Amino acid sequence: MIKKLGIPKEVKKDEGRVSLIPEHITQFTGLADIFVETNAGLGSGFTDEDYQSAGAKIVPTAHELYDISEIICKVKEPQEQEFELLNSSHVIFGYLHLASNLSLTKMLIEKKLTAIATEMIMDEDEYPLLIPMSKIAGNLAVQKGMQFLEYSSAGKGLLLSSISDERNSKVTVIGCGEVGKSSIHKSIQIGAFVTAIDVNENILKELKNKYGENISTHISGSDEATEAIRTADLVVGAVLLPGRKPPIVVTQEDINQMEKGSVIVDVAIDQGGCVEGVTPNTHSEPFEIRNGVIVSAIANLPGAVPKTSSIELSTNLQKYVDNLLIENWFEEYSKSENLKPSLQIHSGLLLSEEVAESLSLSLSKLV
Ligand SMILES: NC(=O)c1ccc[n+]([C@@H]2O[C@H](COP(=O)([O-])OP(=O)(O)OC[C@H]3O[C@@H](n4cnc5c(N)ncnc54)[C@H](O)[C@@H]3O)[C@@H](O)[C@H]2O)c1
Repeated sequence: MIKKLGIPKEVKKDEGRVSLIPEHITQFTGLADIFVETNAGLGSGFTDEDYQSAGAKIVPTAHELYDISEIICKVKEPQEQEFELLNSSHVIFGYLHLASNLSLTKMLIEKKLTAIATEMIMDEDEYPLLIPMSKIAGNLAVQKGMQFLEYSSAGKGLLLSSISDERNSKVTVIGCGEVGKSSIHKSIQIGAFVTAIDVNENILKELKNKYGENISTHISGSDEATEAIRTADLVVGAVLLPGRKPPIVVTQEDINQMEKGSVIVDVAIDQGGCVEGVTPNTHSEPFEIRNGVIVSAIANLPGAVPKTSSIELSTNLQKYVDNLLIENWFEEYSKSENLKPSLQIHSGLLLSEEVAESLSLSLSKLV
């Protein structure tokens, strides 16, 4: 049976991405009727006409889109104004990050719908839908950090990039996975000295081999790691425990010890943040100043560059949308080791152990 797939306009503040771009919806012809909320692609450079030419029907309001569609293919988690649009017939497919959001999780459970967290889809021990956004976010964390270090942003007035052979600025990156590696690469490229911190010795060895004298590496929690956090011009927090709230790796005492005008960018805020006491910021109100230190925690960093991000996202998303359009999709999702971690809520049941533990909610099992 032909499914009805809806692509809403994202309503999270300053979010310009769209989940699927026109060239990628043509493959669903014959499998699904595609509905797109008017102007959903505009922030990423795609018009309603582009979607129509690719075979989609344009819908004038979010209400209408949610009414018609069974599968809602989103970028970010539903926002409060979208809660009333959801009902038990919906399958919500998008970055949900439920471990940091109790009210959203409870609402999704109460609605008795199905919620698939795309960041938890796996392929050979990797998270293929998180990786492209992480690479972009790691790059942007340094870009934002450079901007916040400027005098007009209340930063210490330091140019992070080098104008001579000397590496005069210090960037400390905590968590050296996809986000961290991208931040490290960009920081070294612009001429900063980097300290990389992780719990995984092999990752640190690889980084040392790759970047030599331009990097120093320390195990998380060591005295050297603490010193590198406290003396950095820019700290990037990028730790992840998949599906869970991250550990606190920058404490208030670390912030108190940092030079005034230094910057911390907590990229892990989408999972709840890895800096003590951190609260989410937006692109238009991007930081707080704590004891003279700029602390920024923007949960949708890639939303700042929707043209780049939507193409990357849509390219990687298509094949997983395909999986949802087959008749016995639910059976496939609940049986597959790779897809099962993303199937987090179904018919009022919370199926994710990590989310249940992080939010102290009861875990359910499919019978
Ligand atoms: N804010 C945004 O817009 C945005 C965008 C993309 C990703 N993210 C988030 O960024 C975070 C990192 O994502 P990723 O894709 O790089 O994850 P990843 O799994 O590739 O890397 C995480 C790294 O953290 C390390 N780690 C775990 N515990 C640690 C600890 N206590 N101390 C130091 N290191 C530790 C792991 O060993 C791993 O190397 C996640 O929370 C992800 O959701 C945010």
